[in-house]
Amino acid sequence: MRYFLAAKRDGDIVGFLMFVVWDIGPNDRDHPPVQMDGNTLREAKIIAFGVKEACRRQGIGRALQEYTLERAKALDCYQVRSVSDMDHPENHQLKLSMGFAVEPMERAEPSLAFIMPLSQIEK
Ligand SMILES: CC(C)(COP(=O)(O)OP(=O)(O)OC[C@H]1O[C@@H](n2cnc3c(N)ncnc32)[C@H](O)[C@@H]1OP(=O)(O)O)[C@@H](O)C(=O)NCCC(=O)NCCS
Repeated sequence: MRYFLAAKRDGDIVGFLMFVVWDIGPNDRDHPPVQMDGNTLREAKIIAFGVKEACRRQGIGRALQEYTLERAKALDCYQVRSVSDMDHPENHQLKLSMGFAVEPMERAEPSLAFIMPLSQIEK
């Protein structure tokens, strides 16, 4: 399932975030599903995220990320995850300032994975 969030100001879209909800493991990694107590765990994977240049540093990106955490929790996801290449330091700073865990990844290009477990997030 795919979800699209839009941040609006005065009727204009000033930011957006898209995520998918799927089983942890088999979808974008060649890995069997991860299970807990016999149930396959799901995640919200953020696949696109941006704020209009003129509207940055006003808290819109953080609000979109926080809403995603709440929605993912309500959708019974175990975690929220994203992967970002090294060209987006502002995205990295945002994720780190929110308390996401970070994992450098070995891919064709260096990149960082960010993961937030949802056990601590209130519904
Ligand atoms: C990443 C992005 C979405 C952040 O949106 P934003 O609305 O500007 O973010 P916020 O205003 O909510 O910032 C929250 C925090 O993130 C950090 N941050 C955001 N931009 C930063 C920057 N340019 N430099 C350093 N820290 C930054 C800060 O900690 C900031 O808190 P503060 O303003 O109180 O210091 C925006 O910069 C963007 O669209 N970048 C280009 C696209 C992109 O990188 N997309 C993600 C990867 S595909």
